[in-house]
Amino acid sequence: MTTTYDYLIIGSGIAGLYAAILAREHGSVLVLTKGSIDDCNTRWAQGGIAASVGPGDPPEKHLRDTIEAGAGLVDEEAARVLTDEASDRIGDLVSLGVPFDTVHGEVALATEGAHSTPRILHAGGDSTGAHIELTLASVARLEGITVLEHTIATEIVTQTNGNGPRRGGSRTAPTTDDDAGKLRSTAIRALNTTSGERTTYDCRALILATGGAGQMYQTTTNAEVATGDGIAIAYRAGAEIMDMEFVQFHPTALHLPGVQPFLISEAVRGEGGLLRDANGERFMAAYDDRAELAPRDIVARAIRDRMLATNSDHVLLDVTHLDPGLVTARFPQIYRFCADNGLDITRQPVPIAPAAHYTMGGVRTNTWGETNVAGLYAAGECACTGVHGANRLASNSLLETVVFANRVVQRTIDAPSGRAEPAPDARSLRPVPGDAPGAGDVPPLTREALQSLMWREAGIVRDGESLARAASVLAAWQSTLAAPADRPSQELADLLTCCRLVTEAALAREESRGAHYRNDFPEPREDWRRHLVFQRDGGAA
Ligand code: FAD
Ligand code: SIN
Repeated sequence: MTTTYDYLIIGSGIAGLYAAILAREHGSVLVLTKGSIDDCNTRWAQGGIAASVGPGDPPEKHLRDTIEAGAGLVDEEAARVLTDEASDRIGDLVSLGVPFDTVHGEVALATEGAHSTPRILHAGGDSTGAHIELTLASVARLEGITVLEHTIATEIVTQTNGNGPRRGGSRTAPTTDDDAGKLRSTAIRALNTTSGERTTYDCRALILATGGAGQMYQTTTNAEVATGDGIAIAYRAGAEIMDMEFVQFHPTALHLPGVQPFLISEAVRGEGGLLRDANGERFMAAYDDRAELAPRDIVARAIRDRMLATNSDHVLLDVTHLDPGLVTARFPQIYRFCADNGLDITRQPVPIAPAAHYTMGGVRTNTWGETNVAGLYAAGECACTGVHGANRLASNSLLETVVFANRVVQRTIDAPSGRAEPAPDARSLRPVPGDAPGAGDVPPLTREALQSLMWREAGIVRDGESLARAASVLAAWQSTLAAPADRPSQELADLLTCCRLVTEAALAREESRGAHYRNDFPEPREDWRRHLVFQRDGGAA
């Protein structure tokens, strides 16, 4: 069965649903999503969405904070788009019905790490993502947008026009001189996991909104669906993948035996929450003048350091000095989750530890969400627009999804066959190295084995030896991988591709910058103030 749409959107988080609602005005739309509509990271977002909408907070100030947090790698043009367009997109979300919290009739603005002023809008206290997801899903339903649930995208179909380089798919005559040699995406192959049916969907514009890859790591705040599928299938199709070595570890995930590493929002520190080590001592001031509100990478490494120094598997986040009424009203979801697990956070400090949280890297796009493959767009966490650089500023992710999803849809109308300028110096994943351990020398590939390897060897702190060990195990797994037959095996294959991209990029980048910290190269290096881009077979498409 083949079906044709103007817009094919993969993913039903904020990026996918928002793009679908906008695209609906301009053509036929189909959304594919591999679980239920609300199986996504968006629904779990807590702290909120950053935007300079408060008094005395021009977009320029938000821009400066974004650039500062990104540790020298933020693309200034993209970040300017992000911060300039923020208030318009917040206006759209309000019009669609997102119930942002207010105080005395004015929007309530919270503080989070590395923001120089309160500028985080939130909904339901700490349930911002749930409100956004619910609102967008009901608008999509009301607008009659078809969302095919339990349908996993497995492959992007491409073709190369004319006599240019060929990457797979068929070669066709160019429609214009400009099209010659252009790699173009034309369709997606997908598996319906309920019926077992495989379908190819043709489209004019294919928008990846598949989210991040937090499931690469053993301890993560991310939903089960965050397996980096969009990044992996885009890589296989010839798209450029950028900045994968920059994985953000959130400093404060709940650490209770047998309980999932539930996020304890950065906004808790924004309201005055204090970090203490296992002996009850505060420690952040020794690491950074901004103490608890330093950028995430600094706080996460400081916590790891204190855990090692005190021989403990956690530190404590203490809000017992705050008004209990404020804590329960501002953080109802966190309060309830901890209470359900036997912890009253208004009376007891919360045991926490860092967890993998956000994929800064992804499918390289320009400021219009275009990739180097014509007809293929990416928006949201699966994209790498360059706005986060080496370290994302808190609450800039939800903002990025709506700003760039909007621009993708605009672009499909204004310049339908455009694509991003190819990166000049893309490289490809190395073939399995000759000295890689044989398939018999590595444990069988499972999601758990992959996650534990990445946590151990390519986690918050890495070095050349640990990364080389990880790279060779990953390559050995790759060499024995069978063609995926179902959703679990597809996700495992996609995770493996993402893990290889992270590990090889981290091995190549011989410096420390933002979220990428190497013990053997602990300082940033000026000659590494550049991006690493991977592309299958390397080179411009
Ligand atoms: P997602 O919301 O993850 O959606 C991806 C969608 O793609 C899902 O529907 C998934 O099922 C689908 N999908 C994936 N692969 C396939 C496939 N192969 N085929 C079909 N469908 C597929 N950011 C902020 O700015 N502020 C916050 O307060 C905040 N809090 C957070 C709290 C938590 C616990 C987490 C995990 C993240 C938080 N973030 C926050 C980050 C932010 O939530 C995400 O970056 C953002 O929601 C990503 O949106 P998205 O639409 O790109 O992806
Ligand atoms: C949080 O609430 O701490 C998460 C915010 C984010 O990831 O931007």
